[in-house]
Amino acid sequence: MSETVTSTQVHGGGATADQIVSVDSATNQHIQVRINRGEAGEIEGRWEEFTVPLAKGMVVLDTVLWVQAHQANDLAARWNCKAAKCGSCSAEINGKPRLMCKTRVEDFNLAEPILIQPLQTFKRIKDLVTDVSWNYRINATIKPFTPRQDREWKWFQHDADRAQEMRKCIECFLCQDVCHVLRYQTEEKPQFAGPRYFVRTAGLDFHPMDGAERLEQLADEHGLGLCNITYCCSEVCPEHIAITHNAIIPEKERVVDEFHDPVKKFIRKIQKKK
Ligand code: SF4
Ligand code: SF4
Ligand code: FES
Repeated sequence: MSETVTSTQVHGGGATADQIVSVDSATNQHIQVRINRGEAGEIEGRWEEFTVPLAKGMVVLDTVLWVQAHQANDLAARWNCKAAKCGSCSAEINGKPRLMCKTRVEDFNLAEPILIQPLQTFKRIKDLVTDVSWNYRINATIKPFTPRQDREWKWFQHDADRAQEMRKCIECFLCQDVCHVLRYQTEEKPQFAGPRYFVRTAGLDFHPMDGAERLEQLADEHGLGLCNITYCCSEVCPEHIAITHNAIIPEKERVVDEFHDPVKKFIRKIQKKK
């Protein structure tokens, strides 16, 4: 996750805030953006409205940087690549979790203000910046890739593709933000790791050469059973990872096979008695 920008200095994509509305791209139109601002821990915050010159091809992040440079120098927003690859600029735009740098202004009804607010599942640090560090603590609990010693390093392309899809994740946490199970759990007593970590676990489990056992953790500590397959996480993923279909459902099937198959249950019971 990249840095917080609170000054007029902009970086990353290479454009300055003034270049965003350059002579070439400027139109005679202006748009309204309403940004939800607040200090650390404030949940509701306050809405502030700004008028921004419209430029061709403008994305929502451009409007935020323009406001930062011209009207509210202390506005906090996080971004880094401006290319939908670093996962830093996540926010809720008109109520939907999206990357600010990938969301075109023209896609909205410009007669209405565009509403920009921070991710609602995580605590606010300032304005549009939230504290997503809980996610990294969950990540650290997952057993890393553990190569099997009993196999030749040789597998089919479809096996590689299956694991590779999970590795496209840019850790934007939009899926974590939208998931209703995570939204209403407290960080202090987590029962559910969230779709991002089912994707990470699946990426490791699907690797043909991985030999680690993660099913018990998925079922218990990471609460896979609490997911009721709403597909909301898949819908917001900017990398188009089929989170529910290709990660969560296959992992749920493995959990059912392992822990609810009557024969396996019986064998486990016998083994425990020994
Ligand atoms: S499918 Fe499961 S993990 Fe994804 S948003 Fe719905 S409840 Fe959450
Ligand atoms: S799985 Fe998709 S939505 Fe979730 S953190 Fe990764 S890239 Fe973002
Ligand atoms: S700035 Fe990197 S993903 Fe938006």
